[in-house]
Amino acid sequence: MRIAVAGMGTVGGGLLNLLQQRDGVEVVAVCARERKKQRTCKIDGIAWYDDAAVMAREAEVDLVVELIGGEGGVALDCARAALSAGKNFVTANKALLARHGAELSCLAEAKGCAVGWEAAVAAAVPVVAAVRQSLLANSTQRITGIVNGTCNYILSRLETDGEDLATALRTAQTKGYAEADPRADTQGFDSAQKIALLAALAFATPPALDEVSVEGIEQISLDDVNFAKRRGYAIRLLAIAERIEDKISLRVHPTLVRLDSSLASVCGVRNAILYQGDFSGQVFLAGQGAGAAATASAVAGDILDIARGRKTPMFGMPHANLAPLPFFPLDDIVSPWYLHFRVQDKVGVVATIATILSECNISLSAILQDDTRARQQNPLRHVSLLLWTHRTATRAVARALCAIEETSLLQEQAVALRILEEDRRKDREEA
Ligand SMILES: NC(=O)c1ccc[n+]([C@@H]2O[C@H](COP(=O)([O-])OP(=O)(O)OC[C@H]3O[C@@H](n4cnc5c(N)ncnc54)[C@H](OP(=O)(O)O)[C@@H]3O)[C@@H](O)[C@H]2O)c1
Repeated sequence: MRIAVAGMGTVGGGLLNLLQQRDGVEVVAVCARERKKQRTCKIDGIAWYDDAAVMAREAEVDLVVELIGGEGGVALDCARAALSAGKNFVTANKALLARHGAELSCLAEAKGCAVGWEAAVAAAVPVVAAVRQSLLANSTQRITGIVNGTCNYILSRLETDGEDLATALRTAQTKGYAEADPRADTQGFDSAQKIALLAALAFATPPALDEVSVEGIEQISLDDVNFAKRRGYAIRLLAIAERIEDKISLRVHPTLVRLDSSLASVCGVRNAILYQGDFSGQVFLAGQGAGAAATASAVAGDILDIARGRKTPMFGMPHANLAPLPFFPLDDIVSPWYLHFRVQDKVGVVATIATILSECNISLSAILQDDTRARQQNPLRHVSLLLWTHRTATRAVARALCAIEETSLLQEQAVALRILEEDRRKDREEA
């Protein structure tokens, strides 16, 4: 197979290095921004293009790989040019596909081309192939992913090294695990793109990025991580796609997961997916979710698979069969909660907060006051009030938080985190 590669950065360099060690695929054209730049791979003797779309259109190849990035612009031009010219297309670009996946899948089908995107979600972890093929016979109940290595690394630093959020972010940047501007990761948008794509595949629906409710990790403190740990939980940024009744819920939020669970065992930059199907039960996949070699492994896997003749539609089903599904409102999602209020240590505060919670029909499973910080250096005598609730709808928690904020008792913004119920069907059966 003759291929062209647009983008010669981390992943593009990794891909060329991998393909130079394998037979059957010849890279005949490459493109990047700066021709003279020092590369991590050899490109001597390969035709150079300055424009990715021109390369995609004109190079005599069977397949074009896009490893530039970005949701539109040159990446989109490259994808459209390749598919319009009847060339197969492989990408690691979740931003592009979450926004333009429906258009590109339609174009690919019209031109009889394959699109490979395994690397766009969790890099080396083969979740796209698993959901598209091996788990296809299931009605997907829930996909729970740790799909952002940057956030997972930061949360792991809090958990195991006792760093605060800002220090952990700086460590991640120094080690090359976080961008100079990390907001796409820390605010949850990168995870949202990935879960929108997995949901499209699992539920045979067009990607619905705008329907994903997104919360990042920026409000999590070292205190929260420690309080959670003391009660047997770790905090992870989860991306969840779930079927509830005949609707789907798509959401990204930091979540408490039991310390003995498979998801809590995912530390550092690793990624993982916990799939729940009606016949398969739980399937857990984990591995390297980023980096030159791991991402190249997934890109090259797609190239070789297409070279063998695979032509499955991009989201499993022919485009015409993808049906938009109704969305389950976030307000109605129910789970137990962890609530952290930083308040002044004086008579009546706990009673006021407990009254508001009870007025909002929130029932508590535990309540704890922690004055560790008070004893250190805290002349104003602020304490942490930690409340653990029974199953409660998001709507009720939001209402209670608003009312508690209005009392002016809070010294810092309240933290409210959901607690994951791993397999409710199993719990019910056991009960
Ligand atoms: N890095 C990872 O671990 C990872 C993991 C999974 C998925 N991905 C995805 O893989 C894609 C590539 O990521 P990366 O980390 O390899 O990015 P990167 O290191 O920043 O490389 C981007 C490449 O694109 C080239 N480029 C930028 N603008 C261009 C333009 N207008 N025309 C032509 N070429 C252009 C750059 O050229 P110059 O080199 O000349 O500047 C560079 O070679 C992204 O979609 C990313 O989300 C990355």
